[in-house]
Amino acid sequence: MKHLLEISQLPADTILKLAQRALAFKDLRADYPRFSGARLANLFYENSTRTRISFELAADHLSIPVINFVQGLSSENKGELIEDTVRTLAAMGINLFVIRHSENRMQEALAKRLSDEEDIHIINAGDGTHAHPSQALLDLMTILEVKGSLSGLKIAIVGNLRHSRVANSLQCLFESLGLEQLYLVAPEIWWPQNHHFGKLTTSLREGIEDADVVIALRVQKERLSEDSSLDLATYHQNYAISLDSLAIAKKDAMVMHPGPVNRGIEIDSAVVDGPQSFILQQVRNGVFMRMAMIEYLLS
Ligand code: NCD
Repeated sequence: MKHLLEISQLPADTILKLAQRALAFKDLRADYPRFSGARLANLFYENSTRTRISFELAADHLSIPVINFVQGLSSENKGELIEDTVRTLAAMGINLFVIRHSENRMQEALAKRLSDEEDIHIINAGDGTHAHPSQALLDLMTILEVKGSLSGLKIAIVGNLRHSRVANSLQCLFESLGLEQLYLVAPEIWWPQNHHFGKLTTSLREGIEDADVVIALRVQKERLSEDSSLDLATYHQNYAISLDSLAIAKKDAMVMHPGPVNRGIEIDSAVVDGPQSFILQQVRNGVFMRMAMIEYLLS
């Protein structure tokens, strides 16, 4: 059964095709297919605004009914396992499961346990600190939409790399597509545990000087228990994307952020709301990218 669990499972040409397909949906160059037999359930065990709602809208554009599973009201409160929840929903005709969970690789383990189910597709909507493939794909779509290609670009990812599943998936994606210059910027305490691609640096200047794209990451207060020594005022002073720090990047540098944004911590309001910000364009693109992902799984 076909699942979409992490970027590393996708060949580079599939990644590029998904981005092109999403752009074609957005520009109305491609008709929206109708998947009349499909049904999608959103199973979110962690908070979400953008990801959950964009999957819902994407399914709607593809004529797929959506069920929003509400954990607090479900039988999991009576001890039912996620695996049994999925089998139960599948018995009612649901075949697409968009799952977000706080445990690393939970969706992968679930996919293995459900390998006997003929007609179940699992989409990873974020697992712990491990992967967030749909966010990485929509980020690529947004960069290609504005810059045309990755060729010759310098891209900097700035912030809490240690706890960021978005940064992990972006590293896989940029490695697969052969990006020449990826810089990963953070204080050492936030350097990633599994660094696989890009140049790590503690220097914001080194990372964003002449950059074409600056991706800021949220300071994830809910995942900071082990970093109690980190002082947010010092972080802001050294690493925030502000009008001043952004001046070191190229004049036409794109500023991106997966959201939700902590204004005044990792990025200043003047940048979030400024002319170089593509943050809302990322959100908008997310709907079209998730349409392309669902189509990929169903065809
Ligand atoms: C991200 C997430 O949940 O991983 N947000 C998102 O999906 N747009 C990033 C974050 O929470 O910081």
